[in-house]
Amino acid sequence: MVREATKQRIGTLTLWAGRLEGGMAPELAAMSISLGFDQQLGLVDVLGSAAHVRGLGRTGILSDEETQTLLSALEQVTGELSSGSFVFVESDEDIHTAVERRVTEIAGPVGGKLHTGRSRNDQVATDLRLWSRGALLDVAASVLALQRVLSARASEAGSVYLPGYTHLQRAQPVLLSHHLAAHCWAFSRDVDRLLASVHRLNVSPLGAGALAGSSLPLDPDGVAEELGFAKRFDNSMDAVSDRDFVAEALFDIALVGLHCSRLGEEIVLFTSEEFGFFTLDNAYATGSSMLPQKKNADIGELARGKSGRLIGDLVGFLATMKSLPLSYNRDLQEDKEPLFDAVRQIRLVLDALTGLYATVAWSEETMARAADESMSGAIDLAEYLVKQGMPFRQAHGVVAGIVTEALEKGVPLGGLVEAHEELGPDAAALLAPGRSVANRQSPGGTGPAAVEEQLNDLGLQIQTDAERMEALVARWSSKN
Ligand code: ARG
Repeated sequence: MVREATKQRIGTLTLWAGRLEGGMAPELAAMSISLGFDQQLGLVDVLGSAAHVRGLGRTGILSDEETQTLLSALEQVTGELSSGSFVFVESDEDIHTAVERRVTEIAGPVGGKLHTGRSRNDQVATDLRLWSRGALLDVAASVLALQRVLSARASEAGSVYLPGYTHLQRAQPVLLSHHLAAHCWAFSRDVDRLLASVHRLNVSPLGAGALAGSSLPLDPDGVAEELGFAKRFDNSMDAVSDRDFVAEALFDIALVGLHCSRLGEEIVLFTSEEFGFFTLDNAYATGSSMLPQKKNADIGELARGKSGRLIGDLVGFLATMKSLPLSYNRDLQEDKEPLFDAVRQIRLVLDALTGLYATVAWSEETMARAADESMSGAIDLAEYLVKQGMPFRQAHGVVAGIVTEALEKGVPLGGLVEAHEELGPDAAALLAPGRSVANRQSPGGTGPAAVEEQLNDLGLQIQTDAERMEALVARWSSKN
């Protein structure tokens, strides 16, 4: 049976109309057309095309006049894309098709020379690398902004302390500054990873053609240089089939998201009535449509929730890639949506957490009480005995005995410690509010001197990362 749909073919102006006359069936078009999402590549697509045209000009495939005509048409397309006046038509299968169609409308028949020596396979790989380079630098900038706020709040926290937790049980008091800085170091590794990924992806695929290069004289080295890539591809098949840089970007972002999720979980806990450590600024909290008393930490929850989605973007994409034979396969078109989604979502999360942390208030008393009330000074007593020469394992046993006794009798630890023959009043004084934190001297620990040094190092690290990032941005924006 001849299907009705074949009569309604659309897009008779396909790029392959000379081979397959009649246009695409609507079902194929619906599945295949990627313009809805790859429009985002418009500006980088034109950038790549302009470099390609100059390359063709250098090798003599295009005359100077043709080169100029195509370049000025491309410039006009950039203007139309930037101002939003670019008009897409039904036959625009993807952004590459749309740009080439428009260049031909503007430049006339010479537009037919734009795609000389090029395939959409090397073109799309080039576009996505250019786009990812900028996007990953944007993500790194947002991470750095959050780090700056966290480290500023850490410096401001001074001697404020709270219980430090392991297994979510109170373990040892820590300075709030130490706690906030801990999150910052994770973000530092993220920035480092993002910048390293930017370096690795900075290889030009243009000139690889469909998969095997071209018989025409091309200048892939010059094109790479012009686009700010560190070098051109080594292998044309690898160039069009490689999407490692997408997987890597998605991993980097998923990990940033995971760090945000852990931060978010903590915000949810610390703002709960049970903890009562943090109070959100009203602008960064939500209420309930039904329960009048509610003040919810939705940013923390959304950071947690979106982390799942970001992991999904990564895992879904890896599954797309895993069995693809060389070289280009249309499956690769599925690389864009997870990447675009991940970049957009992580920036939302980072910006919201930055605002939240810039404005959050904390209750010094509630946090101190939670730290002081608990038995979290027990290790200080054991270490007191160690300083008297007792082996640690034995000291642990002595203090554990007193803790058990205090819990059984329902009395505070202090009295029992004071009366204990091996401990006594000097040891009991170690349980005084704030003493435990002040006594921590080891490097990288929570003692005030160690934290001061740490915050200093953190500030330098953030500064260095920001300079590295800005240098990369400057390098490429001057090229582009
Ligand atoms: N829209 C396509 C993509 O994103 C462009 C490449 C199409 N190449 C092809 N041989 N059909 O991958």
